[in-house]
Amino acid sequence: MTEPRARETAGLEVTGASIDYAGRRVVDHVSFGVRPGEILGLVGESGSGKTSLARAITGEVPLATGTVQLDGAVLGARRSPAERRAVQLVQQDPFASLNPLLTVGQVLDELLRVGAGATRGDVRADGRPGAPGERAADLLALVDLSPDSLAHYPREFSGGQRQRIAIARALATDPRVLVADEPTSSLDASAQATVLDLLAGLGRGIGLAVLLITHDLSVVNAVCDDVAVLREGALVEQAGVDRFFRHPEHPYSRALLEAVPRLPERQ
Ligand SMILES: Nc1ncnc2c1ncn2[C@@H]1O[C@H](COP(=O)(O)OP(=O)(O)O)[C@@H](O)[C@H]1O
Ligand SMILES: [Mg+2]
Repeated sequence: MTEPRARETAGLEVTGASIDYAGRRVVDHVSFGVRPGEILGLVGESGSGKTSLARAITGEVPLATGTVQLDGAVLGARRSPAERRAVQLVQQDPFASLNPLLTVGQVLDELLRVGAGATRGDVRADGRPGAPGERAADLLALVDLSPDSLAHYPREFSGGQRQRIAIARALATDPRVLVADEPTSSLDASAQATVLDLLAGLGRGIGLAVLLITHDLSVVNAVCDDVAVLREGALVEQAGVDRFFRHPEHPYSRALLEAVPRLPERQ
């Protein structure tokens, strides 16, 4: 068998990806791509395979078929440390994903130290590595938190702030791909908007390829460039967001859109 030839495309490329759990196929030959600086919304009902795909992209779950590529290079089942750092996940529940025993500063410092010591050839954009403490404060500034936060524990923050800390942590390894798995579904409306704006702004600002997983089409409407609709493990439609909301092609997409009470006008 010959593998499909790696395409020389920048960003994340998922090609023909299938995922099996104990012989049961839950994701079936799914393909999509996300360019640097773009945000692709992956939507689908609960159980459609979104989290499984996220975990396959980060390398936690093996693929039964297909490939995950980053900048044209196939990411295998066994990722190198540099490959792991390049693809970061922000999870649904920021409380569960942050170690309660570590201060925010300790969490960030640890990651920054690992990144700094590695042979990744990734001198930062400003050309200087910077001391971990200073860079941790820079990361917090990116997510609109003050340097005072470094000395505090996750429990001392609100849900929205914790999710911003989780985003700062994901950015600490200088990733090229950010997978956000329902990052706002545990938050109240105003915290949701803040976190989404941050993700969108940061993604575009630093040229990250962002895969934003959600079951909420208003989230897609608010921040995504493109949308891919997953149904029972298969992609039924993929489109630019403007086109999708005006002329959804697949009957399932239309049904999803009809189930949304009312969407604000896109600007
Ligand atoms: N670790 C696992 N072992 C077995 N089945 C799983 C596992 N994780 C998810 N599944 C099943 O795979 C399907 C897709 O789940 P998931 O990827 O979590 O969907 P979603 O994130 O869209 O809700 C579901 O039927 C779920 O029960
Ligand atoms: Mg899920």
